[in-house]
Amino acid sequence: MSKTSNTGKMEKDYDCILNLDFDRRNQIPFTTADDFIFTDNRKSELLDGVWGFTPDVFQTVTRKQLFSASNRDEQHRYVPMDMDFSEMEKVQVPGCWNCIRDQYWYYEGDAVYSRTFLYKSEKAQERVFLRIGAANYECRVWLNGKLIARHQGGFTPFYAELDAIRLIHKNHLVITVNNRREREQIPSMNYDWFNYGGITRSLELFRVPQIFIKDFSCHLIPDSDFEKIEMKVCLSTAIAGQNCQFSIPELGIDELAVTTENGEATVSVPAHPELWSPETPRLYNISVSSGEDFVEDQVGFREIKIQGKKILLNGKEIFLKGVCCHEESKNGGRTLSDEERMEIINTAKEMGCNALRLAHYPHSERMSRLADQHGMLLWEEIPVYWAIDFMNETTFADAQNQMRELIKRDKNRASVIIWSVGNENPDTEARLSFMKCLAETCKADDPARPVSAACLVDVDTMSVKDRLAEFIDIVSFNQYYGWYYRDYEGVSEILKNSTINKPLVITETGAGAKTGHHGGTEELFTEEHQDKVYQKQIEYTTGKLQGFFPWILFDFISPIRKHPMQGGKNSKGLVDMDKKTKKKAFYTMQNYYEKR
Ligand code: GCU
Repeated sequence: MSKTSNTGKMEKDYDCILNLDFDRRNQIPFTTADDFIFTDNRKSELLDGVWGFTPDVFQTVTRKQLFSASNRDEQHRYVPMDMDFSEMEKVQVPGCWNCIRDQYWYYEGDAVYSRTFLYKSEKAQERVFLRIGAANYECRVWLNGKLIARHQGGFTPFYAELDAIRLIHKNHLVITVNNRREREQIPSMNYDWFNYGGITRSLELFRVPQIFIKDFSCHLIPDSDFEKIEMKVCLSTAIAGQNCQFSIPELGIDELAVTTENGEATVSVPAHPELWSPETPRLYNISVSSGEDFVEDQVGFREIKIQGKKILLNGKEIFLKGVCCHEESKNGGRTLSDEERMEIINTAKEMGCNALRLAHYPHSERMSRLADQHGMLLWEEIPVYWAIDFMNETTFADAQNQMRELIKRDKNRASVIIWSVGNENPDTEARLSFMKCLAETCKADDPARPVSAACLVDVDTMSVKDRLAEFIDIVSFNQYYGWYYRDYEGVSEILKNSTINKPLVITETGAGAKTGHHGGTEELFTEEHQDKVYQKQIEYTTGKLQGFFPWILFDFISPIRKHPMQGGKNSKGLVDMDKKTKKKAFYTMQNYYEKR
C-alpha cells in the first residue's frame, strides 16, 4: 500500500488481531464509593431476567468491539460477524455462570452479557442511573456501543449514569465480567471459598431529577442517653439554600433544614425511640424530601459501644453468641433468594445465636435488611484475606473502596454493628500500615461503629499479639485447637498469655466433620470429634471472651478441599450443605448459647 493512500484502514481493520494493548482503551477510571447513590426504597425498573450470555475466553467481544460493529460494509453488503447478540445462550440474571452448566463450573475469565431495554422519558430532564448490586470481579458496562462504566470488587454495588444523549428508544446493554484471580486483587489468588463469576445481584434502573438526593443517613447520636437522632442528606449538586424536610412520623419529627454550599444538610433532634435490639427489632419509617426528590428508609435506633473489655448494646453489656456463614446457595452459587437468607437467619436463631459473621466479603444488602427486620446482629467484612499484595497502592485503593462502598450501602442498618477490615493476614509492616489505614477509613466514614479484624494467633508466644490490635476496637482471633493443632488446651494457654485491654472475640474455631460419619472422639472427620472440639472450646473459653463465632454454620464448596472426606467442600459446618442436616456439635452449641 503506497504511502500517499494511508487511509488508516490498515490500522483500523487489523487492530483486533495486531494490537496487543487493545484493552488499554477500555481502562476507563473505576466507579467508586463516591459514585454511590441512595437507592433504597426508590422506584426502579428491574433489568433482572433473561440475558444473552457467552464465556469470552479470548475477550473477542471487546477486542473486536462487536457490540458496535456493523454486519454490513460501505456498500451495504453483509460481512461475516463473529457474534450475533440475538442468538446468544439465554441465562437468568442475576446468577453465577458456574451454575449454568458443568462446562462453566471451573471457568475463570471474561464473560459477556447482553440485553436490550426500551426507554421512554417520563419527566423532562430526568436522569437515569443503572445500579448493579454486584458483579465478580471486574465489570464493564457498554450502552449502545459506548463504554460508560467500569468497576472492580465482586461484592459491592456500583452505579452508571445512562446519560440522556445516549439513551434511545431501544437500548443495547452489554456487560462484561471477568473473575480471573489476580495477585493485586482483594481477595488475591488463594482463598477457601469458590470463585463464582457473573452478575451475582440485581440490576435496576433509577430515574431521578436533575438535582437529587445522593445520600441519606440516620442514626442515634452516641452518648446522647439514646435521646438524640441525627439525620443527614447530601444532594447530587453542591448547592446552598435548598430546603430539606426530614420526617419520622411515629416520633413526631418533622424538621426543616437548608443545605450549605456543599449541598449537605444535617439535623439533630431530641427523640425517644424504642431501641432496636435482636430481641426487639423495632424499625421506624424515616424520609427526606428536597426539591423534586424524595427518599425513605426503615431504620432501627440503637447504640453499640466499647467500654474497656465490654461491648455495650444500648448501654447493656452483650455477649456475641455468633456463628460464621458464607453467602452460598444450594444451587445458585453466590446468588441467594430471600428464603435462603432467612434460612441462614432462622438456623442461627435456632442455634441460639444473636450474631452472624458474614464471611469474608460483603454479602447482599438484602441480608442486612432482613437482619434489621428479624433481629440479628451482623459482623460485615471485606476480603482482605490471607496473602495480599500489601505493598501495592492499587490493591490498597481497591480494598479501601470496597470498604467505603460497604459502609455507604449499609450505614443505616441497625443490625450491622462491626466493620471488619480483614481476616488472617501476616503481621508485617506493609500489612500493618495497609490495615491501619483501612481501620482509619472506617472511622472517618462511620465513627459510630466499632472496627475489628480476624487476627492470627502468634503460635510462637501462644498469645494474641497482633500489632493491629492497637488500631481496632474489638480484637478478634481465629484458632482451631483440637483440629489443625490437636492439643485442645492451646486456646486456654492463648487466653492466659494474652493481655488485651479491649473486647476479645473468637471469630473462628471448629473442626471438619463428614455429615453422618460417626466414630471415636479422636477420629478426624467424625461428628464425635467435631463435637468434642466444641465441648473443649466452650470449657476453655467461657467467661474469658465477649463473643464466640464457630466456623461455620453450613458446609460450603471450596476448591482447596481435596481430601476424600471433604470432597471439594469445607466440612466444618455445624449443619450439612443441604442446610438441613444438623451435626452433633450443633446441639452442643445450641445448649451452650441457651445457657448464656
Ligand atoms: C481459616 C479461614 C476460613 C477457612 C477456615 C478453615 O481460618 O479464615 O476462611 O475456611 O480457616 O480452615 O476451614
